[in-house]
Amino acid sequence: MSILIRNGRIITADADQVADIYVTDETIRAIGKDLDLKADKEIDASGKLIFPGGIDPHVHLDMPFMGTFSSDNYETGTRSALFGGTTMVIDFILQKQGKSLQAALDEWKGRSDGNCVGDYSFHMAVTDFNDSTKKEIKNFTDKEGITSFKTFMAYKGALMIDDRQMIGLMEEVKKCGGLINVHATNGDMIDYLIAKHRAEGKLSPLYHYLSQPEITEAEASERFIAMSFYTGCPGYIVHLTCEGALNAVRNATKRNQKVFVETCIQYLITDASLYEREDGAKWVMSPPLRQKKDQETLWAGINQGLVQVVATDHCPFKWEQKLMGKDDFSKIPNGHPAIEHRMELLFSEGVNKGKITLNKYVEVACTNPAKIFGMFPRKGTIAAGSDADIVIFDPNEKHKLSAKTHYMNVDYSAYEGWEVTGKVKTVLLRGKVAIEHNHCHVDKGFGKFVRRSKVAQIV
Ligand code: URP
Ligand code: ZN
Ligand code: ZN
Repeated sequence: MSILIRNGRIITADADQVADIYVTDETIRAIGKDLDLKADKEIDASGKLIFPGGIDPHVHLDMPFMGTFSSDNYETGTRSALFGGTTMVIDFILQKQGKSLQAALDEWKGRSDGNCVGDYSFHMAVTDFNDSTKKEIKNFTDKEGITSFKTFMAYKGALMIDDRQMIGLMEEVKKCGGLINVHATNGDMIDYLIAKHRAEGKLSPLYHYLSQPEITEAEASERFIAMSFYTGCPGYIVHLTCEGALNAVRNATKRNQKVFVETCIQYLITDASLYEREDGAKWVMSPPLRQKKDQETLWAGINQGLVQVVATDHCPFKWEQKLMGKDDFSKIPNGHPAIEHRMELLFSEGVNKGKITLNKYVEVACTNPAKIFGMFPRKGTIAAGSDADIVIFDPNEKHKLSAKTHYMNVDYSAYEGWEVTGKVKTVLLRGKVAIEHNHCHVDKGFGKFVRRSKVAQIV
């Protein structure tokens, strides 16, 4: 099968040109003006933007968490990602404390194998680092193609590891050529504040926010960065939300340290005032939404090169699941739905409002995730030889986000009624038209597991 996309404005992290793209089978073969080639299918992309397929490196699909499962499974999650222009996601495997990493990998394969519509990979979350799990790391980096290891400095009693385990894991991961991801908030402080608020009868969603003040994130980020510096293990802070935490990263640059930073779309465009609403549980996530001044910090951080990735931390729960915490914020399953909206919201709120350039948009939504997580240039760009993961985007089409029209398996939208400028029109995944005319043309099982290489490229 061959496809010729004519006359689109092709945006990569470092170029901007009107040209044609020629695809055969799964791969981009040629890019150029007025290509003298014939194809089985031609797409006229005049007046449209063309981006590499988006990569969301932070999603939680069909994940057991806080007594329930996130409501998008691998099929609904990756399909709704495709509708929104995200052709690949990286999901998290969670080790059970006391059990092996391999057991967790087997369990996650059981839910994901054959069920993905879009491409995917995994990070391995190490929640219990000991002599036995230490021996398993090399198998992941060398055989499984899973080269990033997630750690939690919070969720005490469930997922959190202590600093002793963190240092040990960092030494091993560095030896094996991998990368450590971290949820960097101070779990002990948060645990104390949750207990205090509950004892005082302060149980509404607002107290979720007040139990995780900025300092808990700033402190843990600084501590993680220090351990990464000491061990020399590459570090990536997931879902960074605030000025204090970004300043810890900024300070590290003064000793010539490089730390990778991801923020998420919600932290750029929404704030903690939402917790005062009746339905504030919809935005209960960790870390919580912050303040307007933090949004400014994050946009600036993107432009300063301190924040390299914009993800979602997609972890949806239906309203009925959120109601598990109707009388106690600490029982509300943490997370919100966004996998489908990241590319359009970032374009509309970022590019369209003049906060970031088109090239920066592609860099943080497509290219940097591929580079940092060992998939570039196969993924994350538009170039001859790369996978034909391509998004054709109308920059002018206006539409409204709503639970009535979204494809995610959740019965509300965290962005209900948001006016968005810019719409994903057509999506190619490895050379196949996956999304066209508001319809998904690929089935579950089409999505492939992507084995990742060890080297995190400096971005
Ligand atoms: O609230 C969140 N973020 N839920 C998913 C788990 C995590 O911490 O990333
Ligand atoms: Zn987290
Ligand atoms: Zn997460």
